[in-house]
Amino acid sequence: MKRDFLTIDSLITQEVKDILASAKVIKHMSSWGDSPKPLDNHSVAIVFRKPSLRTRVSFDTGIHELGGHPVYITDAEIGLGKRESVADVARVLSRFVSLIVIRTFEQTEIEQLAEYSSVPVINALTDLLHPCQIMGDALTIMEHKGFVDNMAIAYVGDGNNIANSWLNLSKKVSLDLRIGTASDCKPDEEILKAAQEAGMSKITLTEDPIEAVTDADVIYTDVWASMGEKDQADAKAEKLKAFQVNAELLKNAKENVIVMHCLPAERGKEITDEVMDGPHSVVFDQAENRLHIQKAIMLFLTKGLV
Ligand code: CP
Ligand code: NVA
Repeated sequence: MKRDFLTIDSLITQEVKDILASAKVIKHMSSWGDSPKPLDNHSVAIVFRKPSLRTRVSFDTGIHELGGHPVYITDAEIGLGKRESVADVARVLSRFVSLIVIRTFEQTEIEQLAEYSSVPVINALTDLLHPCQIMGDALTIMEHKGFVDNMAIAYVGDGNNIANSWLNLSKKVSLDLRIGTASDCKPDEEILKAAQEAGMSKITLTEDPIEAVTDADVIYTDVWASMGEKDQADAKAEKLKAFQVNAELLKNAKENVIVMHCLPAERGKEITDEVMDGPHSVVFDQAENRLHIQKAIMLFLTKGLV
């Protein structure tokens, strides 16, 4: 039966670990210009209904490195759900390609696409989740800290798709996950509850940014207004201004804290230039690791793992 990757929730702990280990090998292989080629003679549809730099380029190049042919499609061509139903788009794409990667708005849309597609579907970001990002971030943390388990991770800022995906990872890997955000910018209620009930990790939700980052190994932030809600940018900035990741906030974390941001950043808002360009920042390692983790995810969904 085909597997999709719509959420980290669909993986068991061992699979999370296997994909991370596979990404490490793939990254190592790429340092001498080699790569497994599970997509030889296969095409992959990459459908974007929102803008992208990292995800678009890392999937495009990653598919190429795996031996495949990426077919980039925007909503201007397919009009998902308008020109043609999501189910019919899924059925048609499945006749041409061996994988579908999609960035869109509603998680339900991606679930419907996966239901009607006979080939694996990968979530390249929805309003609710960004699972490829957080898997790549786990790889980055492993590289800098040696492991992810039991890390004190402070996510400060909007309770968005990134925060939700961290909560999903916390059900698979034991973390000390703190989410510092304003009272009405909290992560998805159901995802939060499920993560708390899973009992795998210590989960703290706080409105105090200092409590969130105290003795943290990792401080993570993201834009205050995500794609699709930029009209709320001013209101969110007002609510979240106390959660800016700046040099003062960093003083509360461990001395060797790493600072993460999925990018794109709105410098001067959720993160200062000083921190983003400073010695604790690993944001560009995160960007690079999108390539390696997504190759491992595509390999996992097609031919297994290296
Ligand atoms: N982090 C990330 O997904 O970046 P893009 O929106 O540029 O793809
Ligand atoms: N939360 C951000 C992540 C961008 C990679 C957004 O959805 O716009």
